[in-house]
Amino acid sequence: MMTKPRLLVATTNAGKQREYRELLREVPAEIVFPGDLGIALEVEEDGTTFRENAAKKAAALARASGLLSLADDSGLEVDALGGEPGVRSSRYAGPGADDPRRREFLLEKLRGIPAPRKARFVCVIAITIPGGGISFAEGECRGEITLTQRGSNGFGYDPVFQPEGRQVTLAELPPDEKNRISHRARAAAAAIPILRTLLDSESARREHP
Ligand code: IMP
Repeated sequence: MMTKPRLLVATTNAGKQREYRELLREVPAEIVFPGDLGIALEVEEDGTTFRENAAKKAAALARASGLLSLADDSGLEVDALGGEPGVRSSRYAGPGADDPRRREFLLEKLRGIPAPRKARFVCVIAITIPGGGISFAEGECRGEITLTQRGSNGFGYDPVFQPEGRQVTLAELPPDEKNRISHRARAAAAAIPILRTLLDSESARREHP
Protein backbone atom coordinates (compact mmCIF):
# COMPACT_ATOMS: atom_id res chain seq x y z
CA MET A 1 0.00 0.00 0.00
CA MET A 2 1.32 3.44 -0.91
CA THR A 3 1.82 5.67 2.13
CA LYS A 4 0.71 9.29 1.94
CA PRO A 5 3.59 11.60 1.00
CA ARG A 6 4.56 14.14 3.64
CA LEU A 7 4.50 17.90 3.32
CA LEU A 8 6.68 19.81 5.75
CA VAL A 9 5.18 23.14 6.76
CA ALA A 10 8.06 25.24 8.04
CA THR A 11 6.60 27.09 10.99
CA THR A 12 6.82 26.74 14.75
CA ASN A 13 4.18 29.44 15.35
CA ALA A 14 1.23 27.62 16.98
CA GLY A 15 -1.30 30.06 15.48
CA LYS A 16 0.03 29.50 11.98
CA GLN A 17 0.22 25.71 12.49
CA ARG A 18 -3.47 25.64 13.45
CA GLU A 19 -4.40 27.66 10.38
CA TYR A 20 -2.30 25.61 7.93
CA ARG A 21 -3.77 22.30 9.16
CA GLU A 22 -7.16 23.66 8.19
CA LEU A 23 -6.17 25.56 5.04
CA LEU A 24 -4.27 22.62 3.51
CA ARG A 25 -6.87 20.00 4.48
CA GLU A 26 -7.60 19.06 0.87
CA VAL A 27 -3.93 18.53 -0.05
CA PRO A 28 -3.29 14.77 -0.46
CA ALA A 29 -0.32 14.72 1.91
CA GLU A 30 0.38 14.27 5.60
CA ILE A 31 1.15 17.70 7.06
CA VAL A 32 4.14 17.69 9.40
CA PHE A 33 5.92 20.51 11.23
CA PRO A 34 9.64 20.84 12.06
CA GLY A 35 9.06 19.69 15.68
CA ASP A 36 7.40 16.46 14.47
CA LEU A 37 10.64 15.54 12.71
CA GLY A 38 12.98 16.75 15.44
CA ILE A 39 14.27 19.47 13.11
CA ALA A 40 15.01 22.93 14.49
CA LEU A 41 13.80 25.86 12.41
CA GLU A 42 16.82 28.06 12.82
CA VAL A 43 16.74 30.26 9.77
CA GLU A 44 17.55 33.91 10.20
CA GLU A 45 14.85 36.02 8.55
CA ASP A 46 17.29 38.64 7.35
CA GLY A 47 15.80 39.21 3.89
CA THR A 48 14.33 42.56 2.91
CA THR A 49 11.23 41.01 1.33
CA PHE A 50 8.65 38.41 2.39
CA ARG A 51 9.60 36.44 -0.72
CA GLU A 52 13.28 36.28 0.17
CA ASN A 53 12.58 35.08 3.72
CA ALA A 54 10.01 32.51 2.64
CA ALA A 55 12.35 31.11 -0.02
CA LYS A 56 15.24 30.91 2.42
CA LYS A 57 13.15 29.01 5.00
CA ALA A 58 11.64 26.61 2.44
CA ALA A 59 15.03 25.78 0.92
CA ALA A 60 16.69 25.21 4.31
CA LEU A 61 13.88 22.96 5.52
CA ALA A 62 13.73 20.94 2.29
CA ARG A 63 17.50 20.40 2.57
CA ALA A 64 17.27 19.35 6.22
CA SER A 65 14.26 17.04 5.78
CA GLY A 66 14.44 15.73 2.21
CA LEU A 67 10.70 16.48 1.98
CA LEU A 68 8.46 18.68 -0.10
CA SER A 69 8.51 21.84 2.01
CA LEU A 70 6.33 24.93 2.33
CA ALA A 71 7.39 28.04 4.21
CA ASP A 72 5.71 31.37 4.52
CA ASP A 73 6.71 34.81 5.55
CA SER A 74 3.95 37.14 6.53
CA GLY A 75 3.40 40.43 8.24
CA LEU A 76 1.47 43.60 8.65
CA GLU A 77 2.04 46.71 6.55
CA VAL A 78 0.58 49.96 7.90
CA ASP A 79 0.27 52.81 5.39
CA ALA A 80 0.79 55.61 7.95
CA LEU A 81 4.02 53.94 9.08
CA GLY A 82 5.44 53.65 5.56
CA GLY A 83 4.72 49.90 5.42
CA GLU A 84 6.08 49.09 8.89
CA PRO A 85 6.37 46.65 10.60
CA GLY A 86 6.45 44.60 7.34
CA VAL A 87 9.09 41.88 7.33
CA ARG A 88 9.90 42.84 10.93
CA SER A 89 6.38 42.11 12.20
CA SER A 90 7.44 39.22 14.45
CA ARG A 91 10.39 41.21 15.83
CA TYR A 92 8.64 44.56 16.26
CA ALA A 93 9.24 46.02 19.75
CA GLY A 94 12.55 44.18 19.99
CA PRO A 95 13.74 40.73 21.01
CA GLY A 96 11.85 39.13 23.88
CA ALA A 97 8.64 41.06 23.21
CA ASP A 98 5.46 38.97 23.03
CA ASP A 99 2.32 39.51 20.93
CA PRO A 100 0.57 41.83 23.48
CA ARG A 101 3.71 43.99 23.76
CA ARG A 102 4.05 44.19 19.97
CA ARG A 103 0.43 45.30 19.67
CA GLU A 104 0.95 47.97 22.34
CA PHE A 105 4.08 49.16 20.53
CA LEU A 106 2.15 49.44 17.26
CA LEU A 107 -0.70 51.36 18.92
CA GLU A 108 1.78 53.76 20.57
CA LYS A 109 3.22 54.52 17.12
CA LEU A 110 -0.25 55.18 15.75
CA ARG A 111 -1.37 57.47 18.56
CA GLY A 112 -2.68 60.73 17.06
CA ILE A 113 -3.12 59.28 13.59
CA PRO A 114 -6.76 59.60 12.55
CA ALA A 115 -8.88 56.72 11.25
CA PRO A 116 -8.93 55.02 8.87
CA ARG A 117 -5.42 53.75 9.71
CA LYS A 118 -5.21 51.66 6.55
CA ALA A 119 -3.14 48.49 6.64
CA ARG A 120 -2.82 45.11 5.02
CA PHE A 121 -1.62 41.68 6.01
CA VAL A 122 0.61 40.00 3.45
CA CYS A 123 1.55 36.33 3.17
CA VAL A 124 4.06 34.88 0.72
CA ILE A 125 4.34 31.10 0.54
CA ALA A 126 7.41 29.43 -0.97
CA ILE A 127 7.29 25.77 -1.97
CA THR A 128 10.21 23.59 -2.92
CA ILE A 129 11.26 19.97 -3.28
CA PRO A 130 14.82 18.93 -2.51
CA GLY A 131 16.93 19.57 -5.58
CA GLY A 132 14.01 21.25 -7.35
CA GLY A 133 12.98 24.78 -8.19
CA ILE A 134 11.01 27.12 -6.01
CA SER A 135 7.43 28.33 -6.51
CA PHE A 136 5.58 31.18 -4.82
CA ALA A 137 1.98 31.95 -3.90
CA GLU A 138 0.83 35.24 -2.38
CA GLY A 139 -2.19 36.63 -0.60
CA GLU A 140 -3.23 39.85 1.10
CA CYS A 141 -6.01 40.99 3.41
CA ARG A 142 -6.81 44.70 3.49
CA GLY A 143 -8.23 46.52 6.45
CA GLU A 144 -7.44 49.06 9.13
CA ILE A 145 -5.91 49.23 12.59
CA THR A 146 -8.27 49.83 15.52
CA LEU A 147 -6.96 51.68 18.56
CA THR A 148 -8.71 49.31 20.97
CA GLN A 149 -7.90 45.63 21.13
CA ARG A 150 -10.88 43.33 20.64
CA GLY A 151 -11.31 39.55 20.50
CA SER A 152 -9.38 36.54 21.66
CA ASN A 153 -9.18 34.30 18.59
CA GLY A 154 -6.21 34.15 16.24
CA PHE A 155 -2.78 35.46 17.18
CA GLY A 156 -0.35 38.31 16.58
CA TYR A 157 -1.96 41.57 15.49
CA ASP A 158 -5.44 40.04 14.97
CA PRO A 159 -7.07 41.95 17.90
CA VAL A 160 -6.20 45.33 16.34
CA PHE A 161 -6.92 44.53 12.69
CA GLN A 162 -10.36 45.12 11.25
CA PRO A 163 -10.73 43.62 7.76
CA GLU A 164 -12.32 45.78 5.05
CA GLY A 165 -16.13 45.77 5.12
CA ARG A 166 -16.34 44.34 8.67
CA GLN A 167 -17.04 45.92 12.02
CA VAL A 168 -15.11 43.26 13.94
CA THR A 169 -11.42 42.48 14.28
CA LEU A 170 -9.83 39.28 12.95
CA ALA A 171 -9.59 38.12 16.58
CA GLU A 172 -13.38 38.43 16.94
CA LEU A 173 -14.06 36.31 13.88
CA PRO A 174 -14.56 32.55 14.32
CA PRO A 175 -11.44 30.73 13.02
CA ASP A 176 -13.24 29.32 9.98
CA GLU A 177 -14.24 32.83 8.93
CA LYS A 178 -10.72 34.19 9.32
CA ASN A 179 -9.64 31.20 7.22
CA ARG A 180 -11.91 32.35 4.40
CA ILE A 181 -10.65 35.91 4.10
CA SER A 182 -7.12 36.06 5.50
CA HIS A 183 -3.89 36.73 3.61
CA ARG A 184 -2.76 33.21 4.56
CA ALA A 185 -6.02 31.68 3.26
CA ARG A 186 -5.59 33.45 -0.07
CA ALA A 187 -1.94 32.44 -0.38
CA ALA A 188 -2.80 28.85 0.59
CA ALA A 189 -5.58 28.72 -2.03
CA ALA A 190 -3.05 29.76 -4.67
CA ALA A 191 -0.51 27.24 -3.31
CA ILE A 192 -2.81 24.20 -3.43
CA PRO A 193 -2.68 23.63 -7.23
CA ILE A 194 1.13 23.96 -7.11
CA LEU A 195 1.29 21.38 -4.30
CA ARG A 196 -1.03 19.02 -6.19
CA THR A 197 1.18 19.14 -9.28
CA LEU A 198 4.36 18.52 -7.28
CA LEU A 199 2.74 15.68 -5.32
CA ASP A 200 1.45 14.09 -8.55
CA SER A 201 4.90 14.10 -10.10
CA GLU A 202 6.40 12.85 -6.84
CA SER A 203 3.97 9.90 -6.69
CA ALA A 204 4.60 9.12 -10.39
CA ARG A 205 8.32 9.06 -9.60
CA ARG A 206 7.74 6.73 -6.64
CA GLU A 207 5.62 4.36 -8.73
CA HIS A 208 8.01 4.34 -11.69
CA PRO A 209 11.43 5.13 -10.28
P1 IMP B 1 6.70 35.25 10.43
O1 IMP B 1 5.93 35.07 9.15
O2 IMP B 1 6.83 33.98 11.20
O3 IMP B 1 7.96 36.00 10.23
O4 IMP B 1 5.82 36.14 11.41
C1 IMP B 1 4.98 37.08 10.95
C2 IMP B 1 4.45 37.94 12.09
O5 IMP B 1 3.48 38.79 11.49
C3 IMP B 1 3.71 37.15 13.17
O6 IMP B 1 4.54 36.83 14.24
C4 IMP B 1 2.62 38.13 13.57
O7 IMP B 1 3.13 39.08 14.46
C5 IMP B 1 2.33 38.83 12.26
N1 IMP B 1 1.26 38.11 11.55
C6 IMP B 1 1.37 37.35 10.43
N2 IMP B 1 0.20 36.81 10.09
C7 IMP B 1 -0.66 37.20 11.03
C8 IMP B 1 -2.05 36.94 11.24
O8 IMP B 1 -2.73 36.17 10.52
N3 IMP B 1 -2.59 37.55 12.29
C9 IMP B 1 -1.91 38.38 13.13
N4 IMP B 1 -0.62 38.63 13.01
C10 IMP B 1 0.00 38.04 11.96
